[in-house]
Parts: sequence; C-alpha cells; structure tokens
Amino acid sequence: MSNVQTTYLKDYKAPEFGIKNCDLVFELFEDYTQVTNMMSIVKVDKNSKNIVLNSVDLELTELYLNDLKLKDTRYIIDKETLTVLDVPDDFKLIIINKIYPHLNSELDGLYKSGDIFCTQNEPEGFRRITPYLDRPDVMAVFKTTLVANREKYPILLSNGNTASSFKLDDGRHGITWDDPHPKPAYLFALVAGDLGVVKDTFKTASAKIVRLNIYTDKGNESKCKHAMKSLKEAMLWDEEKYGREYDLTLYNIVAVDSFNMGAMENKGLNIFNSAYVLADEDTATDANFMGIQSVIAHEYFHNWTGNRITCRDWFQLTLKEGLTVFRDQCFSADLNSKEVQRIEDVKALRERQFVEDASPTAHPIQPNSYMAINNFYTATVYEKGAEIIRMIHTLLGEENYRKATDLYFESFDGQAVRTDDFLWAMSKASGVDLKAFETWYHQSGTPKLHVEERYENGEYKLTLTQKVPNAVDGSEQKPYYYPLKIALLSDNGKEILAETLIVSKDKEEFVYKLKSKPVLSINRDFSAPVIVEQKENNYPFLMKFDKNSFVKYESTQSFGVLTIESIMEGKVVDEEYIKSFESLLNTDIDLSYKALLLELPTVSTLMQRQTEVDFELIYEAKEKLELHIATKFQDKLLDIYKKYHKPTCKDIDAKSIGERSIKNRCLKLLSALKNDEVIELANNQYNESITMTDRAVALDILENISPAFAEIAQADFYKKYKDDTLVMNKYFSILAASHREGTLDRVMALQNDNAYNELVPNLVRSLIGVFARNYKHFHAKDGYGYKFVVDKIIDIDKINPQMASGLAGAFKIYEKMNIENKKAMKTELDRVVSTQSISKNVYEIVSKIIKI
Ligand code: TRP
Ligand code: ZN
Repeated sequence: MSNVQTTYLKDYKAPEFGIKNCDLVFELFEDYTQVTNMMSIVKVDKNSKNIVLNSVDLELTELYLNDLKLKDTRYIIDKETLTVLDVPDDFKLIIINKIYPHLNSELDGLYKSGDIFCTQNEPEGFRRITPYLDRPDVMAVFKTTLVANREKYPILLSNGNTASSFKLDDGRHGITWDDPHPKPAYLFALVAGDLGVVKDTFKTASAKIVRLNIYTDKGNESKCKHAMKSLKEAMLWDEEKYGREYDLTLYNIVAVDSFNMGAMENKGLNIFNSAYVLADEDTATDANFMGIQSVIAHEYFHNWTGNRITCRDWFQLTLKEGLTVFRDQCFSADLNSKEVQRIEDVKALRERQFVEDASPTAHPIQPNSYMAINNFYTATVYEKGAEIIRMIHTLLGEENYRKATDLYFESFDGQAVRTDDFLWAMSKASGVDLKAFETWYHQSGTPKLHVEERYENGEYKLTLTQKVPNAVDGSEQKPYYYPLKIALLSDNGKEILAETLIVSKDKEEFVYKLKSKPVLSINRDFSAPVIVEQKENNYPFLMKFDKNSFVKYESTQSFGVLTIESIMEGKVVDEEYIKSFESLLNTDIDLSYKALLLELPTVSTLMQRQTEVDFELIYEAKEKLELHIATKFQDKLLDIYKKYHKPTCKDIDAKSIGERSIKNRCLKLLSALKNDEVIELANNQYNESITMTDRAVALDILENISPAFAEIAQADFYKKYKDDTLVMNKYFSILAASHREGTLDRVMALQNDNAYNELVPNLVRSLIGVFARNYKHFHAKDGYGYKFVVDKIIDIDKINPQMASGLAGAFKIYEKMNIENKKAMKTELDRVVSTQSISKNVYEIVSKIIKI
C-alpha cells in the first residue's frame, strides 16, 4: 500500500475543458443500471488535445463524439479515467455505460439503501456513475431522465423541477427533471423508490411559494413533523439573518437508512440519513430532536453557502463546511438556548477536534495534501472551521459581518471559489485587515495561551504568552491573531470592565490602573479556540459570580478537573470543590444549563491533559469523586429528581427538555451509589416514562449498575423495537458503551443479532464505533479491544472503506498512550498497514498515526 498517490493543493490547475450541459438518462433495473450521458463540452485551454474524464471501473457500452461512434483507438480506459483523444474545440460527447447499484456497498455513487435507489456524490462519487470532469470547479446545467418499473419505483426524483413524464408499455415509466442552476457533479442526485411523503409549503420573503416534500419509507410519515418544522424555521432564519431566499419552487428531502454521513445538500434534493429526519417522542431522544433541527438547517443553508457559491477544489472544503456549521450553530442558538448551545458546541469541539489536533493526523482547516479526500470531512474542517468563522464574526461585529456576507454572495454567486475569496469579502466590506488572521487556515494544532497576572502599585498587568505547537512534520508555526474576550471583576463579583483584546504577538501585555487586584474572567464565550493555561485560578469565585455563562461553566469544569487530578495523586477530595458543587445544586437557573454545570469533566477531557494516558487511573479517580458527591448530596439529588420527574410528559419545549435533563443528570449522579434505591428509581423510570429520552437514560444506568434488572428491561426494549433500526442503534450503543465486565464478548456476540447489519453504517457506528470509544474496554490492557476493532476495520474496509477509516479514528490517541497500551496498539496497527488490499482511506489514517 505504499504506492498511494498524494494530491497537493499547490498542484491545482484550472480545468482544460468546461461542460455546458449534461443530459443524463438512467434506466434502472434490478441487477444493473444503464447510464446515457450526453455532454456539450468546450475547450478552455486551446492547447489541450485530449480530454481526460474521471471514471472508476468503467464498463463502457458505446461512445460517440459529435454523433460519430468512436473506435477503441480513439480513447483509452484505465482504472480511474477515460481519455478521449484528439477532441475539437467544441463538441458533443455521448457515453453509454453500465453500473451495478445493488452491489455498491461503499454507498458512494449510485447505490441501493434497502429498496431505494439513491446517490451520494460528494466529493468524488459521480465518477462511479459515469465519466465526467468530476471536480467542483466544473459546473454544468443538468437534465435528468429516470426510467424504472412503475410499481416498484413510483417515485422518481432528481435535482430541480419536473419537466415531463411518460409511461412505457412494459410496466415502466419515466420522469425528466430540469435543474436550471449550473452545478458541480457532486451536487447531482437521484432517488427512485416506493416512498411515503409529507407535504407542506413555504412562502418566501418575495412571496414565492415553495413546495416542501419529505420522502421516507411508507409508515414513517408521522415521524417527519419535526423535520418539516425545522426546515421552515431554517428557511425563515436565512431570510432574516442573511437575506437569503430559496431559489427553486421545490425542495425535496429523502430519508434513507444506509448513509455514510449525516446528510447531503444536493441541489433541490437533499438526501438524509434517516436518523436526522425521523423522530417522535416514543423513539427519539431530546438530543435527537435537536440534531434533526440542526442538520436539516445545515443542509438547507448549504443552498447558499456551498451550492450557489461552491468550492474551487476540495482543499477549500472549509469554505462551505466551516461557514455552514457556524450558520447552523447560530440558528440553533437563536431558536433554543444561546448559552447551552455554545457550551454544547465547545464540548463537541474539545471531545473530537482537540484530540485530532493533538495527533499525527492533525491538519489545517485548509489542508495542503491528502491521499483520500473522504478522510478530510473532519472535526477540524467542520468544527474548527466554524470557530474560525465565529472569530471573524467577532472581529467584524454583527453589522459589518452582515455587510461582508452580502458582498460575498454578491461577488461570487454562481462561482467556485477559495477561502481567500471569502476572506477578501470579509475584509473589503468591513475595513478590517485580516492578513494576520490567515494563519488559522494554514496551521494545525491547538494553540495554548499562557496567562500571568501581576498587581503592583495600583497597576494590574496581564501578560499573555502564545504557545504554538509545531506542525506534524516538526516545522515551527507562527503566533496567531485572535479576539480574546475578557472581563475584570471586583472582589464582590461586579464587572469592572469587559472588553475584547486582540492577541497577535508571541507575548502581549495589557496594563490596567485599578484600586485593587481584580479577578480575571478570560476567553469569555470561548471567543478563540485555544487552551488557556493559568497559574493562579479563581474557579470557585467565577463559578459563583461570573455573569458569562461560558466562563461559569468553564470554571466549574476546570475546578472539577483539578479535583480529580488531585485524587489521582492520592489526595483526598477537595472540600472547597464540594462546597462549590453544592451551591450549584442550589442555584435557581435555567435547568438545561444547570444540568451542564453539574456534569463532571469527561474522561476525554482528563485524558487530554495527561502526557502519558492511563485510563485506569482516570476512571478510578473519577469514580471516587462520583461516589463522594452521590453520598454527600443523596437527599438533595433525590429532591431535584422527584421534583422534575414527570414520566407522562412528552413535550419537547425548552421547559420540558430542561426538566428532563436536570432530573436525568441527578439520576446519573445518584447511580454512583449503585444501591437498591437507585436501581428502583431507574427501573421505575424505564417502566413509567413515555419518552425515549427517559427510557434510554434508565436503560443505560441499569446496564451499568444492575445486570439483573438490565436484562429484563433490555428484553422488553428489544421486543418493542427490534424492527425499528433507529431505535436499535440506541440499544447497541448502550451495550457497547457499558462499563460492565464482559462487554467485549457481548459486543462480539451482538454482531450476530438479527437487528444488526454490517452493511448499515448507523449500526456499525452504534456497535463497533461506540465500543471503540468505550475507553474502559477498548483500552483494556490485554489488548483484546484493539484486536477486535482492528479485525473489524479490516473486514469492513472490504465493504465500505469510508466506514472503516472512520473506525480507525479511534486510534488517533496512539501517540499519547502509556507504553503498555501503546505496544498493544502498535501490534494491531501494523497488521492493518501490512494488509495487502487495504484501502487508501484506512491506509492514510493508520500510516499517519504510526508515522510511516
Ligand atoms: N456535505 C455533507 C454535509 O456536510 C457531507 C457529506 C454527506 C459527505 N455525505 C458524505 C462527505 C459522504 C463525504 C462523503 O452536509
Ligand atoms: Zn455540510
């Protein structure tokens, strides 16, 4: 596998040809599909003689150039290309070829999800359908005709608007779709199936009526309400916040069960992982409802940030993804709780992106090179990318940011552009110089900020030192430029001042004349994605007084981290932390926010601070603290639990969600006691509650503290939901995340469960993916956890390389592990790279992890 090719940004060349129109005819049959691809092509670079089309495993039937059938001396087919020799300046090319969607287990290109034909073409799936200039800077007008059996596939969808339909004598029918907007091939989509539909409409700001359809397997229509509501909320929000209206009269969404990612923004025809469409209170958790709202919005927002303005090349991916994630985060913050949303976003960033950024797979949000582009749909490109846009928003201010996005849309509509073009618009419209800011696009690793405070003679001096990690190749990197929101508080908790500092040099000094030494509240709202290192801390004070909901949360977490770390050093539990925790328990604040404050630092947070990670030590200390808290505050926790446990409430408004999160947090904290009382509480909750949120929490707790009751509840759960694959995902996840002994054996056995299917990515993620993030068992010192996951990576790689390389991500912490675990990991990872047929997807990740 050492012959894998690397693609470099610096090698970018503009396309030599353009495609004006692409007319496609798909004749769908059970065991093959015939594609007829008619393109009108123009030479852009008059020096080129041959056209090289991307085409994977082409099975060519016929090829015509300007209606002349070409002999095989006029073209060359190899593994990934079709080259047509000696082409004129302007010509028509007709290609007829055959593909096999029912055999496509990679879920890339045209494939079948159950009985539904569907496509996934981002980033490079289209070349598996038909030969094409499969790159985002080639944009064409598409017209698509689908022909299939009318009974099996009554619904035939593609991008744009329907133009005409026809019936054939043999029980087949056809529909033609026209998409007026030129687009790159990665936004092409088709769907064929026997689907149920939910319909609605949206009236745009300019009074255009848009028809909205959500298609799903029949029987699931009632589960599309929340998705539809979210779509209309997103459409309205984009009009109000960005002045962006929808540009077609039809918006289709299709939910499919087999999908590699969350969803895809194909023009006018979004295709979704059904997990991000279908929900009702009986089968979906509150978190699922939130997830649907944000993914529906994300894909809708892509219509402007991604589709109308797309990427020049895939190195620019963050241009659309970072910006669109930032947009969906703001949308969710506006529609729900701002403070909770921000904390959740930062939590997610730190759990996944910080780990990636600290590993040998770290890369800038705009990478310089890749082996498999599919590997770069990462937390860095998406979530860190969104933080970069957020910082621009902070630097410009709301009003200038809006002017700048207006200019961006005005200047680049209909084009395929670069992150530099985005930065140009941001800077031009606002007058803010962003030159020094660009570093964020080209460097990797999470920067640290070291803080020192000194108070002398009425002067408070704040010294900030940037500690910028080296790049993965060892090269030195430059200091960053960013906004740092701070406040200084007086000793009664009042804000003396609050401002946004600009950090740009290696070392910065800020001096304030003050009567007494203030308390520093730093990186408010998490204004920059950095790690703050403070010698002195005022965590208890900030927990109590800080008005900034993020810093209040942050201080709670940091204090918790220090407390657990001192337990790891063999010290007793810090009573001051316990006191602060108690006052949090007693505060009267928004319940969802309170539930976050009461969450102890995650194992991942603790692990990231260790120079040599040992999960056993972390678990031991954390469990000690959990037991201490549960014992000490048993009554209080129980009071809160009882106050808010409303088993027959299934509303999903903010208040009900808040009540469920606080009481479930209390139950979870109480579960450290592992006594009969808690088991009974959890068991009753499982039996009484009518929401999936409550039942999933109860099931999880029982699984971890009471094998006997867990078994009964699980059997009941299984019986009820065995045919609902989305719910079965939860079942598998709970079992795979279990801390109980024997988890690995049970996970292995569950692979043979009737409800499990290795071809469905959601199920693989729930069982194998969750196990690989179960630090307790995955990192067991005997190495069996590693062996099992590597076996699965090698197996699943043959079915779906993108899935397999996702699983390999669990090994990203390799370098930081203790010697014993590291050795066990290495043995297994060596086995991956020496596997002859391993995909470039998996090879890229694993070879970077073990540095070969
Ligand atoms: N553009 C999609 C999104 O973020 C991402 C995506 C969906 C994707 N399916 C994929 C990326 C398959 C790679 C492969 O909204
Ligand atoms: Zn996206």
